[in-house]
Amino acid sequence: MNLEPTTTADERGELFGVHIPELQLPDDEYRAAMRAAALAADELYIELGSGHGNGLVIAAAEFGARAFGVEYLEDANERAVAAALRAGVGDRVNVRREDLRTTDPTPADVLYLHLGPAFHDLLAPRLERMLTRSTRVIAAGWRVPGWLPVPGTQDSWDAGYVYRPADPLLHATWGPALDSDTGRIVREFHAHADLEAIEARVDGVVDDQGSIELSAHVAGRGQSILAAWDPTTIAGEVTLWARCRAGRFSSRGAGAPSAPDPRTYQPNLPAT
Ligand SMILES: C[S@@+](CC[C@H](N)C(=O)[O-])C[C@H]1O[C@@H](n2cnc3c(N)ncnc32)[C@H](O)[C@@H]1O
Repeated sequence: MNLEPTTTADERGELFGVHIPELQLPDDEYRAAMRAAALAADELYIELGSGHGNGLVIAAAEFGARAFGVEYLEDANERAVAAALRAGVGDRVNVRREDLRTTDPTPADVLYLHLGPAFHDLLAPRLERMLTRSTRVIAAGWRVPGWLPVPGTQDSWDAGYVYRPADPLLHATWGPALDSDTGRIVREFHAHADLEAIEARVDGVVDDQGSIELSAHVAGRGQSILAAWDPTTIAGEVTLWARCRAGRFSSRGAGAPSAPDPRTYQPNLPAT
């Protein structure tokens, strides 16, 4: 590990926002975040502002990832290297003394930020522009304004957010949810894109009253579509289509809730 001697970044006035390595995510939160981001063996985990290296060591030792940390504070980097050696993952952990604002994020499979709103404002447009693959971005502590979290990830980790900013096709969620007030199925589509058109196609309408209402609303830099229908009027499959600048995408699922998700599905109980 080659760390160039230098004055601290603070002394040069180069840091801003949160820059205290002692402000660390607890280890269990790191684990939950990595599970939520589905970090897999041999994937590349990049941590911007890696502090004392706890996240790097957990990613390498417990998830089998290759871990790369960027951190301006030299003593923090030294601690990270020592921790990696102690944990026996010195060959899978690297740190570099660098300004995270200029780090190339493109090779990351999972990119971790625990930096605060000022950095989010600065980094979000850069990441949107540069990330071209399905990199999962973990943002500990603060939301990234305008990004839509990956649906479901908050169930397994509630101390931050997981995003896939480069993937406009991802966020079609098909867990049937029954609106208990109306008895209608409501399904939601998320897109990190400006949608130009949405349409629903139904295969197997059994009742000519069966129809699907679509409504779209802007959610930050993306959009969210709600599709709602009465499950008693539709059997077979429902396909939702959406078109955005990045292309067309679709999601397909059963019209009736044959396999209800116990967390969201509430049976339509008869009135007593
Ligand atoms: C809040 S701490 C997070 C530490 C660790 N990632 C965690 O979650 O426990 C932010 C880290 O980012 C580093 N940092 C802040 N600005 C930086 C910059 N411009 N370049 C590189 N590192 C920076 C700080 O020195 C600090 O260690």
